[in-house]
Amino acid sequence: MSPQATPASRFVRELKRSHRCGDLRGNHQGEDVVLMGWVDSRRDHGGLVFVDLRDRSGICQVVFNPQDPLMLKSKDMRGEYVIGVRGKVRLRPQGMKNPKLATGDIEVEAVECDILSEAKPPPFQITDPNVSETTRLKYRYIDLRSPRLQEHLAIRHKFNQIVRKTLSEQNFLEIETPILYKSTPEGARDYLVPSRVNPGNFYALPQSPQTLKQLLMISGYDRYFQIARCFRDEDLRADRQPEFTQVDIEMSFADVDDVLKVNETLLRQVWKEIKGVELGPIPRMTYQEAMDRYGSDKPDIRFGLELVDLQSAFAGTGVRMFEDVIARKGAIKGFVVPNGAEFSRSQIDKLTDKAKENGGKGLMWIKHDKDGKWTSPVSKFLDEAKLAAAFKAAGAKQGDMVLIVSDDYDTTCAVLSALRLSLGRELNLIDHSKDFFVWIVDFPLFEYDKDNKRWAARHHPFTAPKDEHLEILLNGDESRYGEVLAKAYDLACNGHELLGGSIRIHRNEVQQAMFKALGLSKEETELKFGFFLEALTYGTPPHGGAAWGVDRAVMILCQTENIREVIAFPKTAKASDLMAGSPGPVNRDQLLELGIRLAVKEKEASKGGASEPAKA
Ligand code: AMO
Repeated sequence: MSPQATPASRFVRELKRSHRCGDLRGNHQGEDVVLMGWVDSRRDHGGLVFVDLRDRSGICQVVFNPQDPLMLKSKDMRGEYVIGVRGKVRLRPQGMKNPKLATGDIEVEAVECDILSEAKPPPFQITDPNVSETTRLKYRYIDLRSPRLQEHLAIRHKFNQIVRKTLSEQNFLEIETPILYKSTPEGARDYLVPSRVNPGNFYALPQSPQTLKQLLMISGYDRYFQIARCFRDEDLRADRQPEFTQVDIEMSFADVDDVLKVNETLLRQVWKEIKGVELGPIPRMTYQEAMDRYGSDKPDIRFGLELVDLQSAFAGTGVRMFEDVIARKGAIKGFVVPNGAEFSRSQIDKLTDKAKENGGKGLMWIKHDKDGKWTSPVSKFLDEAKLAAAFKAAGAKQGDMVLIVSDDYDTTCAVLSALRLSLGRELNLIDHSKDFFVWIVDFPLFEYDKDNKRWAARHHPFTAPKDEHLEILLNGDESRYGEVLAKAYDLACNGHELLGGSIRIHRNEVQQAMFKALGLSKEETELKFGFFLEALTYGTPPHGGAAWGVDRAVMILCQTENIREVIAFPKTAKASDLMAGSPGPVNRDQLLELGIRLAVKEKEASKGGASEPAKA
C-alpha cells in the first residue's frame, strides 16, 4: 500500500470540492472541477486507468494517465479508497456513453489526484443483493454507502422537511419534550434509566410524548408538533422497532374532523412532493366494519378476499363445532379463494398451520371443483345441499374454495385476516400501482385483557369516550364497558397502521373515572398521574391529536416491508445493535454507583444480546 495522504495534501489544504460526482452533465464540458469520493470500481485499460468515483449524489467516471508523473497514485487506487481528483470535464467519445448513468455523457480527465484514505477490501460489495442482513447490520456504515439506503434516508429527510414546513404553515409550533421522563403508558413495557443522584429511582423513556403534549395544551400552546423519538420494550415485528420516530401532533379546541383534516393535508403534501401523486378522497370505515370485512383494524384494502358472516348458513345444521360457537356467541366467518378448488392437500395443510399459528384451532374449507365434486372435512356431517348453501352464502362459484373459521369473534378475525393477507400475496392479488389509505374510526374505548382479567385502554387511558357513552364510564358500569366507543382514529395504509390518535379526556373527573375503570387504585393513580390530574384542574382546553409512525410512512414511501431499511442504525428483532454490540454489560463500579445489583449471573449478562441474526 502506498503511504496515506499527509495533511499537507492539496486536496485537504487548498482544493475545495467544486461539484458532487453525480451532478456533472454535458453542459459542464470544458470546466475544471474538483471531486472527492470513494473508488467504486477501477479498471486498467491499455495504459489508461478508469475510476468510477462515487459520493452520495452518484458516480462519475474519471480517466487517469498513469504515465503522467502527477498521476502515479492512480496505480495504487483500490475499491473504497477515498480520493481527491482535479480535472477537466469532457464529453465521452461516441459509442462510449453510458445511458445507465446520469453522468454517462461525460468523464473527467484527471490532471491532479491524491489518495486521502486507504481502505481494506470491504467485507462485501455494497451493491451485492445476496449478502445476509446480519453481515450488513454488523458493517452498517458500509451498507449505508449503498445507493439503496442513501435514497431511503434522503426520502426520510424530505419527509421530515415537508412535515416541518406544512405544519409550521398551519401555525403549529415545534417543541421538544424530555427523553428522561416518567412512564407514559402506550401498552408496552418501559425502558428504564437508573438515576445516580437519586439512588433506587428510575426515569422511564417516553413510549410517546402523550402526557407532555397534553400538558402543553393546558399551557396554551394550542398547536404543537414534534418529530419525537419513542421507546417501547415490546415484541418486535417487521414494522416495529424498540426506538422509533413519531410525528407527534396535538391541537386545542379540535374535534375528530379537525384532527383528521390537518393530518390529511399533511398526508397529501407528502405524497405529492415525494411521489408526485395527488391523493383522492380518503375513505372512512368504522372499526366494526373493518373487523367484519377484513378481520383487522389496519385492513389492507389493495385486494378483495373480504370476509363474510356465515353463521346463518351453519345455524341449525346440528354440527357440534358450529352449534357450540353459536351458543357461545362466537363467530363463523369465511372468505372465498377464487379458483381455490385446485388447491392441493399440502397447500391446505399449510393454510391450516397458519391458522393455528394465529391462535385458531383449525381450518374448515369447502371446495366445489370444475367437475362438480364437493369436498370438505365436514362432508360427513353436511350433505351437498348444505355445503352448497354455505358456498352460496359466501359468494363462491364452481371452481372456488371457501375457507371457514368458527371461534370467538377476535380469534376468528385474527385467523382469517392472517390467511387473507398471506393468500393475497401468494395469489398476486395486491395492486401495487398505488397506496391505499383508509381512516378507521369509532374504536372501542376498552379491550378486555383475558390474562389479567381486567379492562385495558384500547388506545391509551387519555382517550375520550364518545359523548353518548360517557355516562357508562362515569357510572363505572363495568358490564357495559365493552359497548363504549372512543373518539379514536387510525390511518391505515397497505395493511400498516400509519397513524393513531384521539380526542382526549379534558375533565379531571372523567380522567379519574377512566383510571378507576382500568383498575388503578387511588394510590397508584396519585403516584403515576397525580401531577397530570392536578394539571387538568387548572383550565384545560378540549383537545386532541395524533401521531404518525415516521419509520412506517417512510417504509411505504420507499416501498419496503422492512423497517430497518429506513433507519440509519436500526436494531434487530431482539432489540440489539449488531454493529456496536449493544446492549452490553457494564462494569461493576458503574452498577455500584447506581445502587444496582444484578439478579442475573454476571456471566449471563456478559453474553450480551447483540450477536443474534437480524430476523426473529
Ligand atoms: P400509537 O401507539 O398508536 O399512538 O403510535 C402512533 C404510531 O406510531 C407508530 N408506532 C411504531 N412504529 C415503529 N415501531 C413501533 N414499535 C411503533 N409503535 C407505534 C405507528 C402508530 O400508528 N400517543 C399516541 C398518539 C396519540 O394519541 O396522539 C401514540 O403513541 O405508526
